[in-house]
Amino acid sequence: MTDFETVRVALGSRSYDIEVGSDSLKHLGDRLAPLLSRKRVFVLSDDTVFSLHGQSLKQCVKAAGLSLKIKCLPAGEATKSWQRLGETLDWLLQAQCGRDDVLIAFGGGVIGDLAGLAAALLKRGMKLVQIPTTLLAQVDSSVGGKTAINSEHGKNLIGAFYQPSLVLIDLDLLRTLPERQITAGYAEILKYGLIQDKDFLDWLSDHAEAVLALEPAALGRAVATSCRAKADIVALDEQEGGVRALLNLGHTFGHALEHLNGYGPQLLHGEAVGTGMALALLYSKRLGLIDADQVSQGCALIRAGGLQADLSSLSGGPYEAAALTEAMRQDKKARGSHLPLILLKGLGEAFIYPQADLTDLEEFLRQELNQMEMETS
Ligand code: NAD
Ligand code: GLY
Repeated sequence: MTDFETVRVALGSRSYDIEVGSDSLKHLGDRLAPLLSRKRVFVLSDDTVFSLHGQSLKQCVKAAGLSLKIKCLPAGEATKSWQRLGETLDWLLQAQCGRDDVLIAFGGGVIGDLAGLAAALLKRGMKLVQIPTTLLAQVDSSVGGKTAINSEHGKNLIGAFYQPSLVLIDLDLLRTLPERQITAGYAEILKYGLIQDKDFLDWLSDHAEAVLALEPAALGRAVATSCRAKADIVALDEQEGGVRALLNLGHTFGHALEHLNGYGPQLLHGEAVGTGMALALLYSKRLGLIDADQVSQGCALIRAGGLQADLSSLSGGPYEAAALTEAMRQDKKARGSHLPLILLKGLGEAFIYPQADLTDLEEFLRQELNQMEMETS
């Protein structure tokens, strides 16, 4: 990878660049300049991220001759709430923030999703810049314009599609990220290969260790390739009327696993998606769509990423087929006894299977769990 790689998200008048590089925060002033109508920016972050990287951000903003107003919220999923959204909007309004001001989301997916929704709502839309600081946010949540908070009725139920004006990815920010969060982000990288890019999967099978060790060249290639894959899909289907659903590979199983864990820290989103992708491979085999060799290869790639391909070894368990199926029945996309599922015809060949039967899924999960129990006893 060159020093800096730019990926364009082509959405007509809402197009924007994703800049991927090491130490790219230093370019922040230059990249912000065309977006600014005043010499100031607003920054939303979380306490953990800001204590680690706030000084660097401040220096870059000040070096560009800009003033900044900063708000830090507690780290963690509970921050994606009505209360924190209201607080953020009040803070922006009190500072007389206008539509032509820029809000920078400086954090992981939690801050990105909340800041995105606040930016969409503030006077019907102010400018948003994403500076994602987790691997998951760099390869997934900062790109594509899905913003949301959670409700007591469920996760991400209150939101809007609202695209940023710029995504600035500084790979060096990941150096302070706990190992578990790196593994969780890796699941989303692997997802792009499994969906549509066999060459990328082959490359990952040789470079997983280097990516997980954050070796700059491998990490840069993995992040840029992931962003390109997401940008291409979002450009085709911004609001998930069709092909964008492919990005949910592993997510229907994964959300059921997360739901049973109360979306708590014992099971991270990416960890659930990793095992969810293994289940999607195994269910594709059950339906005769993919052969056993490909399933083994896919599961090996999941394990090489430090993720669990076996449900029985996943944290937060033990899991039960009936409870998992009931959680899938609550999925927004479920209709009666069926739901659409992203399955695989091959490695790098995901497709939308429109009507998976929940009774059959329950039987499948029961067999998988029994088989795993027999193997481990
Ligand atoms: P997160 O934002 O909670 O960050 C995880 C933890 O890492 C937090 O404790 C945070 O403080 C800490 N952290 C962040 N950057 C750090 C760094 N550089 N060094 C050390 N610690 C750091 O979690 P996440 O995994 O980034 O995002 C999860 C959220 O993203 C969920 O709410 C999920 O719904 C959302 N999401 C959104 C989309 C989308 O398309 N909008 C896609 C996937 C996930
Ligand atoms: N994370 C799935 C999507 O952005 O559509």
